[in-house]
Amino acid sequence: MLAERASPVAQEEDFFKWDEKKFGLGVHAMDLEHQKLISLMNQLYSLSKNKAPKPRLVMVLDQLTAYTIKHFDDEEKFMQSIAFPGFITHQQVHKSLLEKFGKHAKSFKEGSDLVVPNEFFTFLKVWLQAHIMGLDRKYSEHAK
Ligand SMILES: [Fe+2]
Ligand SMILES: [Fe+2]
Repeated sequence: MLAERASPVAQEEDFFKWDEKKFGLGVHAMDLEHQKLISLMNQLYSLSKNKAPKPRLVMVLDQLTAYTIKHFDDEEKFMQSIAFPGFITHQQVHKSLLEKFGKHAKSFKEGSDLVVPNEFFTFLKVWLQAHIMGLDRKYSEHAK
């Protein structure tokens, strides 16, 4: 169940590559934070693929969790600073993402898996892509 030799992503260095054209919002501080999120996610991915000890995985997962909370917080402050009308909806989406993220994190931390399950990575990737390209882009357009 844990083997995934045939998976194309397994050969890549980076699980998730930053693409300025796709993800760049033109809001510098938020672009930097998105890059940092992606880098933590890539770190977790490669450590997990290389079967790093679980406490090490948990450490990076905790960093990713803390940084996600910080990012959402910073983003919400930014949206308020530009009086973005979609703020409340965006804040609710952040809240529900954090809940889902927390459930995945908890089940990995408390469960017997020694590597981070693929569905967790899929969730992270889909979330980041869809969220940055969809919702986050809206406040960046408002900021222009
Ligand atoms: Fe957001
Ligand atoms: Fe964001």
